[in-house]
Amino acid sequence: MSTIVITGGTDGIGRYLAEEYLGRGDRVVVIGRDPDKGRAFEEKAGELGTFLQADLDSVAANRAAIEQIRATHPVIDTLVFCARFYRSFRTRTVDGLEATFAHFYLSRYLFGHGLRGALERAPHPAIVNVAGPGASLAAADFDDLQSTRHYSGGAALGQGGKLNDLLGVAFAEQYPQGRTRYILVHPGVTATAQTGAYDPITAAMVENMRRNAKPIAAAADPIVELIDTPPAEPLSAFIEGRRISVADRGFDAAAARELDAYTRDLLASL
Ligand SMILES: NC(=O)c1ccc[n+]([C@@H]2O[C@H](COP(=O)([O-])OP(=O)(O)OC[C@H]3O[C@@H](n4cnc5c(N)ncnc54)[C@H](OP(=O)(O)O)[C@@H]3O)[C@@H](O)[C@H]2O)c1
Repeated sequence: MSTIVITGGTDGIGRYLAEEYLGRGDRVVVIGRDPDKGRAFEEKAGELGTFLQADLDSVAANRAAIEQIRATHPVIDTLVFCARFYRSFRTRTVDGLEATFAHFYLSRYLFGHGLRGALERAPHPAIVNVAGPGASLAAADFDDLQSTRHYSGGAALGQGGKLNDLLGVAFAEQYPQGRTRYILVHPGVTATAQTGAYDPITAAMVENMRRNAKPIAAAADPIVELIDTPPAEPLSAFIEGRRISVADRGFDAAAARELDAYTRDLLASL
């Protein structure tokens, strides 16, 4: 029996993955904010499923959830990142951070490093970071990672995707003897809940996009294959099931180290 932990596992692609592994008799821990979604998950899951309510915008909530998971699940086979929330307007978290940066990047940083010990005890451990690998470095504004000068919801998510690529690069570099595989995944445009706080124009665009998007199974089944058979390399990246190179500028090691140092300093102050 495997153990899989899924942030954002109460909806969309994350929920599909949670149900797939519950169906196989694995233990599944999902993290989300909405208690109704959490209750619905636990009712369906029975004894194998656990819902942890946490707002991943908050550093303290991330740390508490990680502690709780460590205490109850000493071995984790797979850690999947699916939490994401679009915001048309810049929002400050309780820590004073831009909210997309906080839950879409910083939370993934905390969970990956925080649960690495439990992952290393599993036979074939993997972190699957579902975001949007492959963009150029220009997708992130390294001089203003909190988007204080300009903010748009799409750009904040685009930047988060780039930061997650660099998170994977730094993670693989920092643990050269580690067995945990880091897998970056772009699922493609998918008809999920696409949760968010939208202005009316963006809401209409998203609704239209959702109507033409592929079904969740088409996005999630290639992720299931990666979870079942993680690639041999410490870091790999996939767009809609197709492997892409992690050797180009977009996965620059120097940029990854700089971002890692920035993140450590930031977390040390919180
Ligand atoms: N759908 C697409 O077209 C698409 C395209 C490219 C990449 N992706 C990536 O695929 C992944 C899954 O996306 P999706 O479309 O399946 O998502 P989704 O249907 O919108 O579901 C998002 C999940 O994240 C949780 N969540 C959001 N903010 C949270 C917070 N602050 N704290 C805790 N949980 C939070 C939600 O739970 P609550 O409702 O309880 O907050 C929900 O379970 C994301 O990483 C996304 O970037 C999706």
